Amino acid sequence: MKPGLLEVMRMNRICRMVLATCLGSFILVIFYFQIMRRSPFGVDICCRKGSRSPLQELYNPTQRSLERVSPPWLELSNTAVLHQMRRDQVTDTCRANSAVSRKRRVLTPSDLKHLVVDEDHELIYCYVPKVACTNWKRLMMVLTGRGKYSDPMEIPANEAHVSANLKTLNQYSIPEINHRLKSYMKFLFVREPFERLVSAYRNKFTQKYNTSFHKRYGTKIVRRQRKNATQEALRKGDDVKFEEFVAYLIDPHTQREEPFNEHWQTVYSLCHPCHIHYDLVGKYETLEEDSNYVLQLAGVGSYLKFPTYAKSTRTTDEMTTEFFQNISSEHQTQLYEVYKLDFLMFNYSVPSYLKLE
Ligand SMILES: *[C@@H]1O[C@H](CO)[C@@H](O)[C@H](O)[C@H]1NC(C)=O
Ligand SMILES: *[C@@H]1O[C@H](CO)[C@@H](O)[C@H](O)[C@H]1NC(C)=O
Ligand SMILES: *[C@@H]1O[C@H](CO)[C@@H](O)[C@H](O)[C@H]1NC(C)=O
Ligand SMILES: *[C@@H]1O[C@H](CO)[C@@H](O)[C@H](O)[C@H]1NC(C)=O
Repeated sequence: MKPGLLEVMRMNRICRMVLATCLGSFILVIFYFQIMRRSPFGVDICCRKGSRSPLQELYNPTQRSLERVSPPWLELSNTAVLHQMRRDQVTDTCRANSAVSRKRRVLTPSDLKHLVVDEDHELIYCYVPKVACTNWKRLMMVLTGRGKYSDPMEIPANEAHVSANLKTLNQYSIPEINHRLKSYMKFLFVREPFERLVSAYRNKFTQKYNTSFHKRYGTKIVRRQRKNATQEALRKGDDVKFEEFVAYLIDPHTQREEPFNEHWQTVYSLCHPCHIHYDLVGKYETLEEDSNYVLQLAGVGSYLKFPTYAKSTRTTDEMTTEFFQNISSEHQTQLYEVYKLDFLMFNYSVPSYLKLE
């Protein structure tokens, strides 16, 4: 009784049709030892009595989420339609993909390491590096801090990345995991996949980032992808070219050896959007708007806003175009295949600068 993709989605649909009150997804995270069959949603650590959860606000908005938009009904319905379309796009892509892929995978706790939990506001945020994740982690620290912080920007960036500062879903028991997946509002933020990739490359390999990162990945990339590399380059791994980085990503050895580093791993593999039914898909292109909508649904929109920040070093579409100029169309095509599901699922069109074979 391990439900694959299709079963889970079918359950989802039935759930939506049959039970008007059934919010969110009906996800069974089945582990190899099937503890939960005995006690599916056994532990009940619920609820903020008397106040509505973000999930209720999202699917059944009240005045609370209406009051900040104007003209209220029109804009709210537009937002609701937009988010429904984004969810449908994910569901449809998953369905089409499961029809061609025979991989039937079930989630294990280690798949949930990117899902940050806020019990006080009943939120689950799947963080994707290079998609405003530092600022969102800061916000999650404010939200879970019980008054410890008020301004997200007072939290240093490196502190936002200390894993002990935020609780992730894999740290809970199986019944607790299932309860939270069912009743919390689950959201993530996505970005145009190649722009995210160039951003990761620039951040990790063109700046003096971190010597152990260069040693860990840079030396491997140089060793594999550069003919006649100098001893120094082999030792330091700090001058990886974008062409070499791309060659490393499309090399079948790379993913066979170990999963991609999270900075260039697909959203599909980090957040499992075909198994976990995200209630809200935020986009980097509309970051502030989507972020503030999440905060509003969480009931904190009146005093907590997404931090605005200087975007001068941001990777842009023009920059991405530049970087891809030097990549052969064969490699572009293979790279697109690696990130294809992220493109389709989050409705990003094939970039016009690509010369696909
Ligand atoms: C996908 O993108 C196109 C073009 O940008 C847009 O017209 C369409 O509404 C989007 N669909 C979804 C589901 O977001
Ligand atoms: C540097 O990179 C290594 C290898 O990925 C990583 O484990 C470590 O946390 C990084 N250190 C800092 C300070 O970012
Ligand atoms: C590598 O070095 C050898 C010997 O110096 C040379 O003959 C060869 O052409 C070089 N190959 C490349 C790809 O630069
Ligand atoms: C493209 O390749 C040329 C020649 O090797 C190099 O000078 C240039 O810096 C490369 N551009 C990018 C964006 O990597």
